[in-house]
Formats: sequence, C-alpha cells, structure tokens
Amino acid sequence: MARKIIIDTDPGQDDAVAILLALASPEIEVLGVVAVAGNVPLALTEVNARKVVELSGRRDVPVFAGCDRPLARALVTAEHVHGKTGLDGIELPAPDLPLQAQHGVDFIIGTLRREAAGTVTLVAIGPLTNIAEAFRRAPDIVARVERIVLMGGAYFEVGNITPAAEFNIFVDPEAAAAVFGAGVPLTVMPLDVTHKALTDRSWIEAMRALPGRCGPAVAGWTDFFERFDTAKYGSLGAPLHDPCTIAWLLQPELFSGREINVEIETEGRWTTGMTVADWWRVSGRASNALFLKDVDRDGLFALLLERIARLP
Ligand code: BDR
Ligand code: CA
Repeated sequence: MARKIIIDTDPGQDDAVAILLALASPEIEVLGVVAVAGNVPLALTEVNARKVVELSGRRDVPVFAGCDRPLARALVTAEHVHGKTGLDGIELPAPDLPLQAQHGVDFIIGTLRREAAGTVTLVAIGPLTNIAEAFRRAPDIVARVERIVLMGGAYFEVGNITPAAEFNIFVDPEAAAAVFGAGVPLTVMPLDVTHKALTDRSWIEAMRALPGRCGPAVAGWTDFFERFDTAKYGSLGAPLHDPCTIAWLLQPELFSGREINVEIETEGRWTTGMTVADWWRVSGRASNALFLKDVDRDGLFALLLERIARLP
C-alpha cells in the first residue's frame, strides 16, 4: 500500500522538484499539498504549488493555503535565492487548478483525524508554521502522525541564512521548537546532507532532454537556482535540498545518520534558529530525531531522473 503523505511547502524551485518526485512515485500517495509563507509570501507560494501540481498532470491532488506568517515573528523571505516569484527559471501559465477553500491547517487537522492513526506522514519542506499551528489547535492529532520528514537545520554546515541557522528553521523557530518537542518520530534532512546533493551539468542536460514537459522544467529551475549557490559557495552545482525528504521515503538506504537529540534555539543573541544537534551525544538528553548526515549523491540523482522521466 502506498505511504500517505501531506506535503507542507513554500515553493521554491527545490520544493517544486520534491513535489514532482512525490507525484511521480507510486509508493507514495499525496493526500494534499499545503502552502506556507517562506521563500516568498503565501500569495506566491500557493500559486506556485498549484502551478507545479498542474504541471505534473495530477489535477486530482488538492492544494491548500496555510499560514501567511510565522507564529511570533515577521516573515523573512529568500527572493535572493529563488527569484521574485519564488519559482523563477521558467515561465509557467497562471494555474487553472483551483485553490481549495479550506485553510491548510484545517486540512492537516481533518486529514489526521479522518485517516487511521499512524498512517499519515507529514513532509515539511518550508518553515514549520502550519504543522505547529495544527498541533496547537488540535493536540489530539499529534499522536496520530506516523512521522514528520523535514528539510531543515544543520550541524556541521551550520547556517545558510545566518552564520548559525538554516532558512526553514530560522524563519519560524518557535514553530520548529514546538515540532521538535512534540514527541512525533522525526527525520531531519539538514544542510549537512543537502549540500552534498549538488546538481551537475550532465544531470541537468539529461533532465532537459526528457521528452515530457516536467524534465525541461526541472532543468530550467535548476539553472536558475544554481547561480546563487555557485556564486556563494564556489560549488559546481545547486543543492536540491527538499527532494531529499521524498527520496528518503523512497530509498532510505541512500542516506545515513544518527538518532540524536536536537533542540531549537529561540532566544540566541546570534544563534536564533540554530538546530543544536547533539551529534556526539554529550548532553544526556533523550534523542528526538533521526538526523541525517550523508547521502549517496549519485544514487539520489539517478532516482530523480528515473522518476521525473515518468511524468508528462
Ligand atoms: C531550504 O530553504 C529554502 O530556501 C529551500 O526551499 C529549502 O527548503 C534550504 O535552506
Ligand atoms: Ca523549501
């Protein structure tokens, strides 16, 4: 039976690739896509989410809008990485696919109450606002979540939006603290992994050469996304952060890490949004997350190519 997931996202080119990977994979049933404010404001992320779902040809997958700002702070966005629209790199038509009327947080709550306990996984690839808000409003759903698989945080790589913090956690550290403290099984895909998931020219060109429309779209997004990271890090390609979460669901053997304690800094003078990851197990605190560190990069990119090739 396919694994049921809800994708909580702020597309974002790498979010878009993650959504396509999930929709291309029969092992996964996407119950819905919920947009959150993050890379760009909600008014853009919800449109981008609908564009991506429509591009995949899966008009049966509902798209919702969730929270338009972090729980307790002003929104920080990342147009400097993702461009003005959040999804710069290719032109896509305004989506025809309607936005669902229900609020995204209510969709998360309703789905977890409706589906059998322990059968729905939340895949969070943006700030954790929607999930924290759902847990706050409906504490009964927390124990019903099978697992949360999230892209966020860093330990050895430390920060990307500040010297100490990764973007998704930094944008809403209060939400992250609530999620990491909720007691739900957590898989964390930090920058330590995703900075090893770098695209290269031959993979981008193989994507571009795919016969459908999705492969060339991925190539266009990656070309755009790449320019920021190559200029910043001097690396050869762009890190495909968010697709690593879906890839872990499909082929966990591509990744390795440790069950450790991870706490979120919400009050640091310089370190707000830091994931304080007890990699060396020195704190004595109980583990609350599978914190990944390494990836079989070639295996990941082979999986992506093979799956995106299945899409129209
Ligand atoms: C994360 O932040 C966003 O810019 C990306 O989409 C990814 O989810 C990487 O820090
Ligand atoms: Ca994202």
